[in-house]
Amino acid sequence: MTIAPPDRERTAERLLRTSAKHSYDPLTEIDWEAPLVEGRPFSPPHRSSLYGTALWEELGEERRIELTRHETASVASVGVWFECLLIRVLMRHIYDQDPTTKHVQYALTEIGDETRHSVMFARMIDKFGCPAYGPDRVARLLGRSVVLVLRQISGFAGALFVEEILDALQREAMADETLQPLSRQVARIHVVEEARHIRYAKQELARQWTAAGPFARAYHRLVLGGAVYLATTRLVHPGVYAAVGLDPRRARRVAARNPHYRQTLAWAAGKVVAELGGLGMIKGPGRRLWRRAGLLPQADLRGRDPLA
Ligand SMILES: [Fe+2]
Ligand SMILES: [Fe+2]
Repeated sequence: MTIAPPDRERTAERLLRTSAKHSYDPLTEIDWEAPLVEGRPFSPPHRSSLYGTALWEELGEERRIELTRHETASVASVGVWFECLLIRVLMRHIYDQDPTTKHVQYALTEIGDETRHSVMFARMIDKFGCPAYGPDRVARLLGRSVVLVLRQISGFAGALFVEEILDALQREAMADETLQPLSRQVARIHVVEEARHIRYAKQELARQWTAAGPFARAYHRLVLGGAVYLATTRLVHPGVYAAVGLDPRRARRVAARNPHYRQTLAWAAGKVVAELGGLGMIKGPGRRLWRRAGLLPQADLRGRDPLA
């Protein structure tokens, strides 16, 4: 299905209208002075990277909650990294285009959303009293070049991947009344604003993928596989485990092999795997990286990390 430019403009116009109605300033929308609630987890415990393992049993209630505090902070700080990468992809996408089109104006609006999200995540990390873990050094380094090779199709597909997995995790968190109210508020704002980003990425992706030739498709499949692997395996920084008194190397290994956690990742990615798989984007050598990241059925449970 080729989407003609007028349709592209109509979609952008609709998204601009939604943005005008449903945009939030997290600085005023969230009560940053409210204290954290004693004894409440920061994310659903069953989504923790160690849930269901012997290490989880060893931790005990208090340290498990601490682990959810640090894991949520780690995912948020990696979220800021993703958003910085996405802003670069979007900036490059519109650089040579006509700014009077609604399409470009919507892209600029989305960049505005992402800058507010990054400030919101940063504030939440600070409020949790956690460091900004961010991705590890290897991922940070690869991120620099990933942005150079993530052109158009893989850029939008990569954005869609990250947006969909965060969407699944945050929809669950915002509805969970047993969690810290701050975690839920942040999740709610992000879910509402990301819904339009997902629509925009899907439409751009469908349009560009339909027009792409076999070489371009092969290139984007491979680059996308690399980006997806990097994004999925870097959500939890090993420093998180050290913060709750665990050996970070050992805990990271346990998490990578943890079938519960791999199930969580596969669940969070279920929708986007179906969407991108349906387009034919999860094929060829790149598919191996999807499998290695634990996102496809019959995932390799050895959890070996080719970048380590
Ligand atoms: Fe965002
Ligand atoms: Fe987004």
